Amino acid sequence: MQTHEIRKRFLDHFVKRGHTEVPSASVILDDPNLLFVNAGMVQFVPYFLGQRTPPWSRATSIQKCIRTPDIDEVGHTTRHNTFFQMAGNFSFGDYFKREAIEYAWTLLTNPVDEGGYGFDPERLWATVYLDDDEAAQLWQEVTGMPPERIQRRGMADNYWSMGIPGPCGPSSEIYYDRGPDYGVEGGPIANEDRYIEIWNLVFMQNVRGEGTSKEDFEILGPLPRKNIDTGMGVERVACLLQGVDNVYETDLLRPVIDTVAAVAPRGYGQGNHDDDVRYRIIADHSRTAAILIGDGVSPGNDGRGYVLRRLLRRVIRSAKLLGINDPIVGELMATVRDAMGPSYPELVSDFERIQRIAVAEETAFNRTLASGSRLFEEAARATKQKGATVLSGSDAFTLHDTYGFPLELTLEMAAEAGLSVDEEGFRSLMAEQRERAKADAAARKQAHADLSAYRELVDKHPTEFTGFDELTSEATILGIFVDGKRVPVVSRNGQQAERIELILDRTPFYAESGGQIADEGTITGTGASSTAKAVVSDVQKIARTLWAHRITVESGEFVEGDTVIAAVDPRWRHGATQGHSGTHMVHAALRQVLGPNAVQAGSLNRPGYLRFDFNWQGPLTEEQRNQIEEVTNEAVEADYEVHSFTTELEKAKAMGAMALFGEVYPEEVRVVEIGGPFSLELCGGTHVAHSAQIGPVTLLGESSVGSGVRRVEAYVGLDSFRHLAKERALMAALASTLKVPSQEVPNRVAQLVERLKAAEKELDRMRLANARAAAANAAAGAETIGKVRVVAQRMAGGTSAADLRSLVGDIRGKLGSDPAVIALIAEGDNDTVPFVVAVNPAAQDLGFKANELVKVLGAPVNGRGGGKAELAQGSGKGAAGIDAALAALRAEIGRS
Ligand code: SER
Repeated sequence: MQTHEIRKRFLDHFVKRGHTEVPSASVILDDPNLLFVNAGMVQFVPYFLGQRTPPWSRATSIQKCIRTPDIDEVGHTTRHNTFFQMAGNFSFGDYFKREAIEYAWTLLTNPVDEGGYGFDPERLWATVYLDDDEAAQLWQEVTGMPPERIQRRGMADNYWSMGIPGPCGPSSEIYYDRGPDYGVEGGPIANEDRYIEIWNLVFMQNVRGEGTSKEDFEILGPLPRKNIDTGMGVERVACLLQGVDNVYETDLLRPVIDTVAAVAPRGYGQGNHDDDVRYRIIADHSRTAAILIGDGVSPGNDGRGYVLRRLLRRVIRSAKLLGINDPIVGELMATVRDAMGPSYPELVSDFERIQRIAVAEETAFNRTLASGSRLFEEAARATKQKGATVLSGSDAFTLHDTYGFPLELTLEMAAEAGLSVDEEGFRSLMAEQRERAKADAAARKQAHADLSAYRELVDKHPTEFTGFDELTSEATILGIFVDGKRVPVVSRNGQQAERIELILDRTPFYAESGGQIADEGTITGTGASSTAKAVVSDVQKIARTLWAHRITVESGEFVEGDTVIAAVDPRWRHGATQGHSGTHMVHAALRQVLGPNAVQAGSLNRPGYLRFDFNWQGPLTEEQRNQIEEVTNEAVEADYEVHSFTTELEKAKAMGAMALFGEVYPEEVRVVEIGGPFSLELCGGTHVAHSAQIGPVTLLGESSVGSGVRRVEAYVGLDSFRHLAKERALMAALASTLKVPSQEVPNRVAQLVERLKAAEKELDRMRLANARAAAANAAAGAETIGKVRVVAQRMAGGTSAADLRSLVGDIRGKLGSDPAVIALIAEGDNDTVPFVVAVNPAAQDLGFKANELVKVLGAPVNGRGGGKAELAQGSGKGAAGIDAALAALRAEIGRS
């Protein structure tokens, strides 16, 4: 059975049983705790926690999942993928254990011609959590499974949790017995390769708290309702139903292996285990990379970008180890598109961009590999020179860490060079690095806000946003929070607190989201508490439903239940609408000028200013920048009407409205349209009514913010004008200093630069001429110490090391062939003291060496130097020691 069919049967099975089909969320969700979506339930967490009311009580989805902690297992086992599809069914306070077991069982065991997968019931096993007698009983009752095929396992295997705090609960897993060829008998607890896990049913019923591991965390209490979260591994089911040995040979991954085999010198499945693993790594990682880029990730040096980079690099290295030297990533991306396209149309529609980003990474990495090879050769040569035969662990680590060489590649190259590698040293450096990474990850988790204090309000009293229609609203205080704790009243005295927040039942304040920062304004009391006044400095949404106004109380006190007037500063809001509408205009202009590949990667706007990040390789040309500015300002000038309306997500997408990667959108979305087709975006922000209200838009510049992501910044409205006025003032000042009309400033500056260069050259020439004259003097003033003519002199301040070298040559020439030593020293720039020593052949015959004398000269000026017997140089710090240095040198010569 093909994978696309497996997916379809799953969804049909659950839709027939009253579930609503929900599309997969992007693999990147805006959650500080989660690098990637790793389970079907992630997009539903707020429903489980009771923070939001789900629009349906039963849902089913096939979620794109990324799990990279097991990356080293990929290709070695039969079942590990970094990207996989998790088919799931979910109950939000509706059915529980019995139905979850029954639904899974019937889909797995129903005959193929009745819409099931047709698994042999005798081969299915189940596990339950240690004390979950109820689930063990239900398996027997509902499916007739004999008790000996139901095993009990502890928290590590049979307890699922997500986030802190987050939902959790005992689980029950379904395994398929692949038979004795795959390992020993004894059920899943004995061998997970033979008994392969295909489905996990989680009985989501508690809230988890802090803990040290998967097996050790606090259970904070029950969830508001009992829920079901299940996940079936589509790839694993495909592997079994297609009768292949491992997930990499299933219908959606095998084509990648075949593409590689067509160009590799050694084929797949030819008895070389290492090669087969390389093939499987390429198949798995190419697909994950395509999905990640498709969802908006660009290769980078940290976070998600780093995972993508690592995957692509492992693909390229594996290909190299298979003996493939030509670029291959472009073709791999095309193979992934062809295989996955029917289920993931974005891989087809977005193919050009996906391929471009992946290939650019390949090109860059090949360059790195070339530099790494040079480093390797140097390290190998140095090792041999020392008479050693082992390349150090730190060399292997640098090659790995900086140049992406896997240890096996270093081992192979070392073997070719007749060396071995200190593998233990390498491993201990790797372990240190892992520790650092873990510490980073732990630090990330700390950032999680504790929402429990707000939970009571979240679902019952969501804040109503009135700010699209009015700037001032009367509202009731629903809750007051001081540093995250609920209090009945707050006054000026509460001011020592870090964070004071008011939650209102309705508010005109825009809470930061979608790149627009929060409104500013005031909240004032009414009636008896009319003296109460607070300034609002920030507004954030909690669980997407509550508006928390962060305030400073200026006078009086606020009491829960009070009626207040919430007023947005109209000037602030006007600026904010200009910034946000301006962002849409720049986005539209960018796509008009650069084409649809310029995909939004993020944005930020505040009154007067905006910035916009987008996927693009390489800097924009000046012409492109000018065009973007021109198109934007023409659209402003056209005074387009700005419309906003709500519609269904699918309809909005069909209209061509642009959505942002990584956002989960509700089913009803708000669309903002400026000038008909000119700009159409999904957006919850506040906007001007007509585009002319944005005012002039001035692009400040364009820069890189990571590999493949560019940023444009602009001023809008009055700030734009102020910026231009400042530039004009600057120009006027320049024109007045240069005493030319402003249009002649560029020419005049160019002329001045030319003249300056000429003057500097002339200065250099004169300095050297002076120095030469000084050299002639110096030569004339040579003293004789023992048998040697000695010139030991301090040269004029500012003489550079290069000047000293050339002078020393001159003096040596003038002194003829009698034994001579020349030592010059000067006070250079930045408190440096450069010095040079030359010894002519006759003096060398007497035993003098420049590289030894230079040390004597350098010591009093805290300098170090080196070189050869005829010429040596160095540099010190502290001009006070110059005379002592020269005296020491003379004394040294005198001693010999
Ligand atoms: N959340 C569970 C898992 O990922 C079931 O969907 O295994």
